[in-house]
Amino acid sequence: MSANIIAIDGPAASGKGTLARKLAESLGFGYLDTGALYRLVGYTILERGGDPANTDEAIEVAEFCRDFFDVNLLQNKELRSDESGQAASKVAVVPKVREALLDLQRNFAKAPGGKAKGAILDGRDIGTVICPDAPVKLYITARDEVRAARRTKELQSRGLDVTKASVLKDMRERDARDAARDTAPMKPADDAIVIDSSDLSPAEMFDKALEIIKERLSV
Ligand code: CDP
Repeated sequence: MSANIIAIDGPAASGKGTLARKLAESLGFGYLDTGALYRLVGYTILERGGDPANTDEAIEVAEFCRDFFDVNLLQNKELRSDESGQAASKVAVVPKVREALLDLQRNFAKAPGGKAKGAILDGRDIGTVICPDAPVKLYITARDEVRAARRTKELQSRGLDVTKASVLKDMRERDARDAARDTAPMKPADDAIVIDSSDLSPAEMFDKALEIIKERLSV
């Protein structure tokens, strides 16, 4: 594996995506939003009129998404909806779904493409399962209310009609499912550095993360 791998995990709307994007841009690293892979599987099932809780269907669609994978598919705005997020966390409990998406993620970590000097992956199990040898592992959390407020603002700015109460309920449900599953549950790796972003601005988070990265990588 490439030495320059940054693993960023954490619960829904903790600010890890924003942080990962900014770090990738500033360090010249490639970035993979692994949640978008699970969202793609969940969303594809919903589009087909299927049930994301149906294990066989989840596996079939995950293998289909893997076989016909195109990174542009991850740009679909529909993936960001709460419905896609819920569907994602339902398919994500299935070990064979996770297995189908494993190589894609590890290959990206090894070879992020182009002139990228390293790779940043964010998700739930990057530091524990996907890249256990990553030299930098961050786990970003924030208080539930703060995360719900952030996600509500984000969804509303995309023109979606949501309330903070419904977003908070969905988020808690999803976090509980993600943390309780048997395979690759959401949790900080033993050697991850935990950052609570509740009272930090995106710029402060960025500075804090960069300081940690510079101690571990020659960037
Ligand atoms: O953006 P947000 O933090 O709300 O979620 P996401 O990162 O897009 O992930 C959506 C869902 O995919 C999560 O709730 C997890 O169930 C699943 N996921 C996972 O199981 N493993 C990952 N590495 C990334 C996401």
